[in-house]
Amino acid sequence: MKTALFIGRFQPFHEGHLDAIKQISEDEIIIGIGSSQYSDTSENPHSFKERKSMIEKSLQNSNTNYKIIAIPDIHDENNWIDHVKNIAGNFDVVYTGNDWVEELFEEKNIQVKKLKININISGTKIRNMKKLVDKINNLKKEKQAVILVHNYQRPEIYQIADFIGDSLELAKRAVETDAKIILFCGVDFMAETAKILNPDKTVLLPTYEARCPMAGMVDTEELKQMQAKYPEAKTVCYVNTTAETKAHCDVCCTSANAVEIVKNLDAKQIIFLPDKNLANYVQSKLPEKQIIPWDGFCYVHSKILIEKLKKGKELHPDAKVVVHPECPMEIIEQADHVTSTSGMITYAKESDAQEFIIATEMGMIERLQIEVPNKKFYSVGSVCIQMKKNTLENVLESLEQEKHVIEVGEDIKIKAKKALDKMIKN
Ligand code: 13P
Ligand code: SF4
Repeated sequence: MKTALFIGRFQPFHEGHLDAIKQISEDEIIIGIGSSQYSDTSENPHSFKERKSMIEKSLQNSNTNYKIIAIPDIHDENNWIDHVKNIAGNFDVVYTGNDWVEELFEEKNIQVKKLKININISGTKIRNMKKLVDKINNLKKEKQAVILVHNYQRPEIYQIADFIGDSLELAKRAVETDAKIILFCGVDFMAETAKILNPDKTVLLPTYEARCPMAGMVDTEELKQMQAKYPEAKTVCYVNTTAETKAHCDVCCTSANAVEIVKNLDAKQIIFLPDKNLANYVQSKLPEKQIIPWDGFCYVHSKILIEKLKKGKELHPDAKVVVHPECPMEIIEQADHVTSTSGMITYAKESDAQEFIIATEMGMIERLQIEVPNKKFYSVGSVCIQMKKNTLENVLESLEQEKHVIEVGEDIKIKAKKALDKMIKN
């Protein structure tokens, strides 16, 4: 009896993959599917659970013995096969429709059988990606550009990053760089922040569609009315705001320093915008202050359901629960640790725990798996569509054509910079 491993990077899963699985004739199959980003607690349309049930359905009338496991994406060519072996155990032959996977296994003298997969799957795309990555890295040097990347970006974008981090780390990096061009792989407010902090540099956002909906939830006229209603209050704005909103605030904050910033302000009343969840979290940590929250929210974090988190805890009772402060209070109350996206990496590295349930945008799982490869992460979040708008293709186009250039009006820039500088100096 032979044991086979089938590798495919299935995002999304496709009928063509099911046909391919049926071409494997061994008595026992270990089927490795796609990226483990989509864990078994996820309800993403292309979740591990969903893809697993499609395979089970497709093989229900066959005599094949099989088990289905999640295989991580290829981030590190040198160690990936060892990583796969650790997860899958022993196997005699690898089946794949992916040229790159084929080459990697053959280099290690492992028998590979080529499957016909009747769709243009990401194996082909992955190969092209390598070319794109090389092109971008060369052009970056030529143009003296730096690429700053937020933790939620697509994993292939990590490969072209000079720095990957959370909003606060990225803002600080933007101040420190001596590059001529800053290309920002994140969303609009992050690139705007980089421009405000670095008025003389060219700041590029690969696509204009990468816009954080929460940043658009503040109306300046309404904010002025609120400020008039609470004349004693200081206004703190989350960095997830437009430059115009920042220009009307006393100080900015990020998820990494919100509590600290509010604590250090010499005012009891604080207007906090736009995220009501982050405002409530800050209030819970600082009962001596009166936080007046704006009615904004992040659609990704607000959607994280308590039922899903509880189910995750049932499935993984030893896992620590790590929560982003943009989550609703009932989720925060379940947390072992509440922190920013980069804070999650530090916590996972330093904690004695081996497993973690992660309540934030789903892409964070990829990032954690790369940074902390010996531990397990389960997502209860979903996808921020806007964060995923940046692709290698539009990064290359953006660098080549120097588009889309971020501009901020002079008056707004000066006022917003004051609020940002105060945050950075805090
Ligand atoms: P971080 O600053 O924690 O990375 O968060 C940014 C963000 O947009 C979270 O939704
Ligand atoms: Fe905005 Fe939420 Fe996306 Fe962060 S995850 S960029 S707050 S929509």
